[in-house]
Amino acid sequence: MSQHFDAVDVIAAKRDGRELSTAETNYVIAAYTRGKIGDEQFAALNMAIYLNGMTRREIVDWTNAMIDSGTRMTYGGLSKVTTDKHSTGGVGDKLSLPLGSLVASFGVAVPMLSGRGLGHTGGTLDKLEAIPGFTVDIDSTRMMQVLDEVGVIIAAAGADLAPADKRIYALRDITATVDCVPLIASSIMSKKIAAGADSLVFDVKVGTGAFMKNLDQARELGRTMVDLGNDAGVTTRALITDMNTPLGLKIGNALEIEETLDVLAGGGPADVVELTCRFAREMLEMAGVADADVEAALKDGRAMDTWRAMVKAQGGDPDAPLPKATDTHEVVAEKDGVISQLDALALGVGSWRLGAGRAKKGDPVQAGAGIEIHAPLGTKVRAGQKILTLHTDTPERFEHALEAITPGITISEDAPERVLVHDRIA
Ligand code: URA
Repeated sequence: MSQHFDAVDVIAAKRDGRELSTAETNYVIAAYTRGKIGDEQFAALNMAIYLNGMTRREIVDWTNAMIDSGTRMTYGGLSKVTTDKHSTGGVGDKLSLPLGSLVASFGVAVPMLSGRGLGHTGGTLDKLEAIPGFTVDIDSTRMMQVLDEVGVIIAAAGADLAPADKRIYALRDITATVDCVPLIASSIMSKKIAAGADSLVFDVKVGTGAFMKNLDQARELGRTMVDLGNDAGVTTRALITDMNTPLGLKIGNALEIEETLDVLAGGGPADVVELTCRFAREMLEMAGVADADVEAALKDGRAMDTWRAMVKAQGGDPDAPLPKATDTHEVVAEKDGVISQLDALALGVGSWRLGAGRAKKGDPVQAGAGIEIHAPLGTKVRAGQKILTLHTDTPERFEHALEAITPGITISEDAPERVLVHDRIA
């Protein structure tokens, strides 16, 4: 029997710094999801939470109430152990793509329910849809089949996965209440716990191109999510990784698929390979596969075979040429020196303006748009040497993109050392 509360009393309690009871939390979230509480009241409650924070128990309650607003997926019929990975979002962050196939090539199931890009960070689903024929709309019966036969699937989350979060997130987005650790952690964890994997690893990005701008915030988010997962019976870990400069050498939808194929063919940029292997080891260890030689599975084609099987199972043609943008523009070095800053946010916004991202939900994206990096952080360059190639189907966008990109490139005497993994939370 659900108790009735007055929304105004709940808002006032949180405004005055009082801890909400489990029943109050269940009431407000269920009532808001069903449209019984209006946006203005829930926005006020979000702001009170933003300003006053939440205790650990409140975060657990908030997460559980959002999970209970929809259905929780289960993989009981599957003979394999399941594991999943989630990134808080970055620029050039295509790790989920090679990682899913790599982990699945060891006999572990990887059901990944991903999102689309919004703003300057790319979305896994947009990248996959650059592959001719690839579909991300897969029902649960087919999902189980693909997990059984191939071991990995990357699909769009259904409408019934934590629907409360969808409403609350949209409201936070327009009321300046997104960047709040308890709200971010409960938002992400409600979807991930509802998605039902046996274990989870988080890539908490920190730096200019990430949600979390400093290490303390990133650690707090990682710790909160790891505790929420473990408390819910899901083995959970997090790595805190750099997002001051883009990951890899390609940013954009089809461009990131190209780089994924390089990694799956045993090559690819060192940072992408290192993180793919680190995350794969964490996931396999949690799934009970000890001492997996993940580097070998990239080199000998096992991970690539799994990728090709996944692409085919999701309607795509792994041999079809990837879309290319119609126009390119080169950015060259103004002077001799070392690339000491290649800013993730600047390049993320630039790529977005070239057409790789969307301004609002539902907008189309250009498959071929984005940025190729020829001279990453730390590269010695000569004046006139190519640093970037910009790609777009709409060349009138070059100027606006360059306004974001140019201030993000600095050439000096020497470059700072890049720390790729700052911390591990288990
Ligand atoms: N991603 C989410 O899913 N939720 C947030 O609140 C922030 C990032």
